[in-house]
Amino acid sequence: MLDSTDFFDILDTTRAMRRLKPDPVPDELIVRILRAGLHAPNSGNTQTWKFLVIKDIEIKKKVQVFYKRALDEIVGPRYANATTPPGATQDGYHRQHTAVEYLTDHYHEAPVWIVPCIDHGDGAPNRSSGASIYPAVQNMLLAARALGLGSTLTTRYLLHEKEAEAALGLPKGVHSYAILPIGYPMGNFGPVGRGELADFVYQDSWGQKFDAIT
Ligand SMILES: Cc1cc2nc3c(=O)[nH]c(=O)nc-3n(C[C@H](O)[C@H](O)[C@H](O)COP(=O)(O)O)c2cc1C
Repeated sequence: MLDSTDFFDILDTTRAMRRLKPDPVPDELIVRILRAGLHAPNSGNTQTWKFLVIKDIEIKKKVQVFYKRALDEIVGPRYANATTPPGATQDGYHRQHTAVEYLTDHYHEAPVWIVPCIDHGDGAPNRSSGASIYPAVQNMLLAARALGLGSTLTTRYLLHEKEAEAALGLPKGVHSYAILPIGYPMGNFGPVGRGELADFVYQDSWGQKFDAIT
């Protein structure tokens, strides 16, 4: 396990950890993660967010039903025909899908979930509200990694948003943006797999390579 505390090592090894032990996670670590979320940038520093911590297995089980249904009925068939992403091998991509299935079956067994939410009143989530909460989500993923805890940003349950948010007990007008299942990882942390930086960066004109990247 890579246990460096160097910021860039942590950044480069914060990947989806989908196989989690059911062992309890001390509350003080969860509080540390939540504080990292609270320190994220947000529009106008209005801090309209709320972070729902779920430990109750019965609530998690109810949501898991919709998370699984979304894989079985919608996302799974898409995976079957998907091309291997940049930086991944066909084998690695297949392993990822197996891990996705594992997390789906064991979603509720992760000892703690953090559900970042915003109260929209009569409004609806949009790009701007998302921009105000996903920095907190990423801060929490990085903090979990730094503490030796695994997690994955999950949103698939939103394919059955109404039912899943009812199971989460969210009041009218409050919407969730992700579920972060958190626990001690079964496997090791390792480098994320991505394509070549040069393929994603342009300079001055769309399509022109950034010459600092060799
Ligand atoms: C918006 C968003 C939604 C995601 N939803 C899910 C999800 O529902 N289930 C899941 O297993 N992974 C989910 N992921 C994780 C991605 O699949 C993962 O980040 C990607 O495959 C790259 O893998 P890595 O993080 O291990 O490098 C999501 C990631 C993002 C950014």
